[in-house]
Amino acid sequence: MRFQASPASASSSRDGAFVLFRGGKPGTLPKSLDTGLRRAADAAFRSKEFSGKKGESLLLHARPARLLLVGLGDRKASDPDTLRAAGGHAARALEARGIAHGTFLVPDEGDPAPLARAIAEGAGLAAYRFDACKSRSEKARFGHITVAPEAGSSRLAPAIDEARAIVEAVSFARDLGNLPPNTKNAVYLAAAAKKLAGGRLSVRIHDRRGILKLRMGAFAAVAQASANEPRLIELRYSGAPRAPLVAIIGKGVTFDTGGISIKPAEKMEEMKFDMCGGAAVLGVMRLIKDRKPKLNVLALVPATDNMPGGDAYRPGDIVKARNGKTIEIISTDAEGRMLLCDALSYAAESRPACMVDLATLTGACVVALGDAAAGLFASDDALRAEVEVAAKRSGERVWPMPLFPRYTEMMKSPYADLKNAGGRYGGACTAAAFLKEFTGEIPWAHLDIAGTAWTDKDQDWNRVGATGYGVRLLWEFLKERA
Ligand code: BES
Ligand code: MN
Ligand code: ZN
Repeated sequence: MRFQASPASASSSRDGAFVLFRGGKPGTLPKSLDTGLRRAADAAFRSKEFSGKKGESLLLHARPARLLLVGLGDRKASDPDTLRAAGGHAARALEARGIAHGTFLVPDEGDPAPLARAIAEGAGLAAYRFDACKSRSEKARFGHITVAPEAGSSRLAPAIDEARAIVEAVSFARDLGNLPPNTKNAVYLAAAAKKLAGGRLSVRIHDRRGILKLRMGAFAAVAQASANEPRLIELRYSGAPRAPLVAIIGKGVTFDTGGISIKPAEKMEEMKFDMCGGAAVLGVMRLIKDRKPKLNVLALVPATDNMPGGDAYRPGDIVKARNGKTIEIISTDAEGRMLLCDALSYAAESRPACMVDLATLTGACVVALGDAAAGLFASDDALRAEVEVAAKRSGERVWPMPLFPRYTEMMKSPYADLKNAGGRYGGACTAAAFLKEFTGEIPWAHLDIAGTAWTDKDQDWNRVGATGYGVRLLWEFLKERA
């Protein structure tokens, strides 16, 4: 994908089309379009062939140029969320018509830079495709995004460059998510992380022996039956000597069979997405390396698959986590919290200013919120508010969920300090309450992304498969912290 910014008087190349975003009314049509196109657009509005509804698009020809009208619905054109989705619709409409290049005209409503970024982000993300595993890969038809202001002239180059970096990082995270589980095992993820090393980013990989040496008994228990080696992936970015440290942690279960508490067969293939929290963390680290913000980041991805087997951990087992707490296993399918609890203890030892984890942790969170938002749990109100701001800015929605002491009580075991599953009700909350026991005094936020990490339909800026949810939210969060 090529990203480009163009001054006001841009003309579209021969293989391309202009893209114009409008709600119900045509408004002033940009002078950069020649009269033929402006007349055609006017006629489309007057005949009601184009009415500006969300998701609507119409391609007009007035030789030698083409213009794609894209509907915004009744939302304001100054809203980045609306434009991100409309940019996605535009990219799909261009691609369906075999048009390779879009010159996206940025609505003249306030500062054009964030709007240009939103359009390019939406278009770039919607044009994503995963064909690494097809024997014959079709050539991408749409591959060139130019943004140009509808009116006046402005420097959109920094905005479009940020969009480029974001799209590349999200695509990287999506690729990891979409890869099949026989390819993207923990060793593969560690190798992908190692490739990011360089400059201010260092990478350290702990193997099975290293994980045991770190006394991560909970993480090691999940990994013990797998023929694939587990890995604890540790990345450190030092962007500024005296800046505070932020820790981000992502669940990296490369396939979740449920283990001895095995899952039903239906849709089990989707459990390859159980490492999408880890993929988001790796994605944002790639973005950080690209954009070089002034802050320090510790990123952890505990990675393994969760398999049954003769030496698998079982319900009834009691294991000891790194912080000394003992855990009675109720369900081997509650494995995510087992990896994360050890990673959280380990992160807390570096005394970060705060910790944020992302995990496809519970089916219960999908029942509660569907794919509309991730569940947000936080031990600190200020941190929760910061994550909510980052969610608003990125368009990656979150919804606040409680950490009542009652949930912690539900995770007490008669045989050990804790149990790993708390019964039928409040599953997302009891999982979060369990994790909280491993965060020490460090302000902590937890995002349950089980409903948002992948999708089964093309929608707005998403494609079927991994969404890369979390990369853009974390990026907004970290930028604000820098
Ligand atoms: N990876 C799953 C959660 C999940 C399920 C995510 C469906 C997305 C879609 C997780 O490891 C899991 O199995 N959780 C259990 C916990 C239970 C055993 C306490 C669940 O949600 O059923
Ligand atoms: Mn599970
Ligand atoms: Zn899982």
